Amino acid sequence: MEKLIGRNLNISIFISGRGSNLLSLIKHSKIKNSKIKINLIISNNKFSKGLEFAKKNKIKYHIIDYSKKKQAENKILGYLRKNEIDLICLAGFMKILSSDFIKKFKNPILNIHPSLLPKYKGLNTHRRAIENKDKFSGATVHLVTPKLDSGKIILQKKIKISKIDTEKTLAKKVLKIEHKLYPAAIEKFLKSLVFKEKV
Ligand code: GRF
Repeated sequence: MEKLIGRNLNISIFISGRGSNLLSLIKHSKIKNSKIKINLIISNNKFSKGLEFAKKNKIKYHIIDYSKKKQAENKILGYLRKNEIDLICLAGFMKILSSDFIKKFKNPILNIHPSLLPKYKGLNTHRRAIENKDKFSGATVHLVTPKLDSGKIILQKKIKISKIDTEKTLAKKVLKIEHKLYPAAIEKFLKSLVFKEKV
């Protein structure tokens, strides 16, 4: 028999650096009625500033040595299982998850990307938008699949690029909208999920 999971789903955030999206998600998780419950933080970088937010907010974290990818991913899968993680949210995680990892985890994985996908997959999104004289940029939250930055789009927010914008000013503007977009996208996604457990 199966019954719907009545609890808030357990979320793990993966980071590599600054962690400003992680911080905005932590803040959001503290809002009354928020469905976001961060149980575990994974970082491939022991110097990630985001780890300070984990410590300050007493959220469990693990630093993963990525020198051997397969071993690193197996270690992460062990932690995810142990902490009963239902959803992974990548927030500036600079490693590409293998298709084997995605298959073995079984549950959904979300990512936030600083462009209006499907435009500008990969790196240097702001530089490319400025060089192409685009009128708009933005950010996208999407499902992670083995194909880089190509999974189903959950939510997207558009902003205007002004004539005087540089790569740096545009990055700042986009990051600001990311901090609202990611929590909203996760809440939207969680609402759409029907998780069942065996009883
Ligand atoms: C963000 O721009 C995000 O879209 C991209 O990496 C950056 C991470 O920033 N995937 P932060 O570490 O959350 O500050």
